[in-house]
Amino acid sequence: MLEIKDLKTNFNTYDGVVKALDGVNLSVKDGEIFGLVGETGSGKSVTCYSALQLLPKTGEVVEGTVLLNGEDITYVSERRLREIRGGEVGIIFQDPLSALNPVMTINEQIGEVLTLHQDKELRQKASDNDIPVYTSKKFSFSPGIEFTVLAICISFISLFAMLGQFSFGLPFFFVIVLMLLRDYLQQDIPDSALDIMVMESLDKVKLPNPRQIASSYPHELSGGMQQRVMIAMALAGKAKMLIADEPTTALDVTIQAQILQLIKDIQKEENMSVLLITHDLGVVAETCERVAVMYKGKIVEENTVNNIFKNPQHPYTKALLNAIPKGGKERLKVPDTGEYGSI
Ligand SMILES: Nc1ncnc2c1ncn2[C@@H]1O[C@H](COP(=O)(O)OP(=O)(O)OP(=O)(O)O)[C@@H](O)[C@H]1O
Ligand SMILES: [Mg+2]
Repeated sequence: MLEIKDLKTNFNTYDGVVKALDGVNLSVKDGEIFGLVGETGSGKSVTCYSALQLLPKTGEVVEGTVLLNGEDITYVSERRLREIRGGEVGIIFQDPLSALNPVMTINEQIGEVLTLHQDKELRQKASDNDIPVYTSKKFSFSPGIEFTVLAICISFISLFAMLGQFSFGLPFFFVIVLMLLRDYLQQDIPDSALDIMVMESLDKVKLPNPRQIASSYPHELSGGMQQRVMIAMALAGKAKMLIADEPTTALDVTIQAQILQLIKDIQKEENMSVLLITHDLGVVAETCERVAVMYKGKIVEENTVNNIFKNPQHPYTKALLNAIPKGGKERLKVPDTGEYGSI
């Protein structure tokens, strides 16, 4: 699926050239969850940015190749890259809020992915069900405008009530009633194919009340929900591969477990490949099948998760294992640290 060969990436800084990646080799097979662990600054993020040409201007890939399903994408055109990102490869980051557009509703953002990558399916769905493709004939405003209209109506009603002319307030009262009954009155008007597919993808990531979430803005959702929306976007693009760069670091422990479980479930259901980047071996133990350990821009060890835990070879891997908190160790049944000694 994804194969990275001898990848070298440099950054040009004022202090000279920084070698961030120094010959990285790794391959993620079809349908597996592959973990990439390493301490801060070891080059995990740079590896995935280099693979998808997401590096800042100061960074450049100086050597090596990136193959996606056999296709060399190391220096592929911007147009093809746009197809790949969000289409074949979905990406989620540590901070979902910065990856989402703050002024667009979730519906619009997932809708954008669908129009870009799933246009054929959208049209097919619309013609199969005899419904509009993009916009439903349902009447709706953005939540901000609705709130304003509601506030204006209430102000006028109170004003007329104060003046003792309640009958003048009736039209405003009527508007409020219409707004409250709107969903009921419009229930027979069908959703558009786009709306339905947006809600389907929100449903897949187990977000409750997809209709309400679709009309929300990113800041209205919790961190865990935003991360689910990011995963929904990857699903909407029918990604065959998901790159997750520290997807749960910013979340608290219970939500972290839920998101990891979701990634596992979705990987199974969609038979996706997942490259999970983390600095937490506990996360790897719970989620991945194989793992590569990165240290100072190189992969120092690669093995199945079981083998890495039972028989770590590289001193840095041993140090990482020693660094798992005690509670985590007991839970994960990692053998006593004394066995490995320390470095
Ligand atoms: N914009 C940049 N300019 C210069 N050097 C950079 C830049 N981004 C990354 N680097 C270098 O690349 C190295 C690897 O960074 P990277 O972000 O991949 O680390 P990481 O393993 O993802 O760490 P973390 O766990 O903190 O996310 C850093 O040590 C740094 O030297
Ligand atoms: Mg990183």
